[in-house]
Amino acid sequence: MATADASHTMAGSEIMSGTLYGLGVGPGDPELITLKAHRLLTSVPVVAYPAPEHGESLARSIVASHLAGNQTEIAIRMPLDLNRFPVEAVYDRAAVEIAEHLDAGRDVAAICEGDPFFYGSFMYLFGRLTDRHRIEVVPGVSSLVACPAAAGAPLAARDDVLLVCPGILPEEELQVRLATVEAAAVIKVGRHLDKVRRVLEALDLVEHAHYVEHATMADQVVLPFSEIDAAKAPYFSMVLIHRRGEAWR
Ligand SMILES: C[S@@+](CC[C@H](N)C(=O)[O-])C[C@H]1O[C@@H](n2cnc3c(N)ncnc32)[C@H](O)[C@@H]1O
Repeated sequence: MATADASHTMAGSEIMSGTLYGLGVGPGDPELITLKAHRLLTSVPVVAYPAPEHGESLARSIVASHLAGNQTEIAIRMPLDLNRFPVEAVYDRAAVEIAEHLDAGRDVAAICEGDPFFYGSFMYLFGRLTDRHRIEVVPGVSSLVACPAAAGAPLAARDDVLLVCPGILPEEELQVRLATVEAAAVIKVGRHLDKVRRVLEALDLVEHAHYVEHATMADQVVLPFSEIDAAKAPYFSMVLIHRRGEAWR
């Protein structure tokens, strides 16, 4: 992505602005990082990542074994109470901190679980910084392809239309959208699992669905949807649906 002015002059010497890399680091398995993301991750002086208010960042944990320990790290921490401290303010502040490094000529890698532009939080930094800074997005292995691989269930084939649908949609809308679907991935299942179950039951799709939790991570779970009886799922879970049952038939 080109910027209007990628360099500036300070005290008579030209300082090249740094580049912000949006690095997809894959769905969890540290081996599912691309060669390009690995090269950039290990060569930039500054690494930024989303993190909970307390505790470890999932994105950072994916690449932890690749980090030498000599880079500046920016943890973009999401407060639990977003009413007191809105998410917009968190990204505003992170963008300012990253821009300071870029303006000083330092490259920054903002790492993102999966792919940065598939529902990735990196896009909120991208939106704030793209007008003034050079940004390069490095695609990552997304959960959209990691989950079918984990489930051993091809996602879509031939003339299937594939729907990606957040489980947070209201029940009626979810049901309307899935009613005619040939292949679908329901993301952001979490506390919406019961609702997703009711919709699949109403549409007679339970036998055509797989459940995948923490794909490619050490605690991966893959089950036919019919075997799931919990009311809630972890945030990193997905339901895959294929109306014909098997995409290759
Ligand atoms: C905000 S989106 C981020 C997607 C991510 N950028 C990607 O490319 O996979 C988060 C949703 O992606 C899905 N997801 C991401 N990683 C996953 C994993 N390892 N296993 C299962 N689902 C995952 C879940 O549905 C989760 O609620």
